[in-house]
Amino acid sequence: MAALGTERVLSVRHWNDTLFSFTTTRDPSLRFENGQFVMIGLQVEQRPLLRAYSIASANYEEHLEFFSIKVANGPLTSRLQHLKEGDEIFVSKKPTGTLLLHDLLPGKHLYLLSTGTGLAPFMSLVKDPEMYERFEKIVLVHGVRQVNELAYEEYLSETLPNDEILGEYVRDKLIYYPTVTREPFRNTGRLTQLIESGKLFDDIGLPRLKPETDRAMLCGSPAMLTDTAALLDAHGLRISPHIGAPGDYVIERAFVEK
Ligand code: A2P
Repeated sequence: MAALGTERVLSVRHWNDTLFSFTTTRDPSLRFENGQFVMIGLQVEQRPLLRAYSIASANYEEHLEFFSIKVANGPLTSRLQHLKEGDEIFVSKKPTGTLLLHDLLPGKHLYLLSTGTGLAPFMSLVKDPEMYERFEKIVLVHGVRQVNELAYEEYLSETLPNDEILGEYVRDKLIYYPTVTREPFRNTGRLTQLIESGKLFDDIGLPRLKPETDRAMLCGSPAMLTDTAALLDAHGLRISPHIGAPGDYVIERAFVEK
């Protein structure tokens, strides 16, 4: 098992009944790439109970941030959802993961495609200046069932575009596209349907997907990943076969049993 450190919870934010975020202290020796995950957890029955969590903060920030579901009978999240400021939590010392900018071939447009808590690694990447330097447009799609699951909506549409350092990049390059499937909203439908029908591209004013110009990063449920990857394959985009071997797109699983 990866070596474990202990961090202290600095803040907790509950978005609704099923989603929350929290920040913790960060061991100054912890180095990570934006988009990576660590194992985090709690002591349960005398042993650490750990799950993989994408880091939602950027690698230059002093704290760590995580975005989680709350499952009433989830082995970890049934406990994690009660975290309070000052509590301690395990954080592994070896970040890893496949959502790496370095594993994408050069391109013009980068699609960050997420559902549910799959948004987390992209919250780190949207604060990465290198991402803005490498791509002309970055499209962040967040698919959820209900409007109240659009965590970070205000941050993405108000705070980040007005950020003192990143704001100029964000206003010029980042297109945030939230979409809701089970109630009315300005954008509706699964992201797979929106790509297939072309509605996403019509709405944002970019051409349909093609391997010459477009790159993607995917994070969501296993079904979302399977369907979206098949769709990208059908458009001629090729997956990065493993870490260190660049491709047109990379994927990460967000939802294992938590
Ligand atoms: P839907 O409401 O049509 O199931 P979940 O909470 O189940 O992970 O879903 C989060 C969001 O992802 C929902 O909007 C859901 O749409 C959507 N979704 C579920 N499965 C897929 C899939 N295979 N491809 C694309 N989007 C999906």
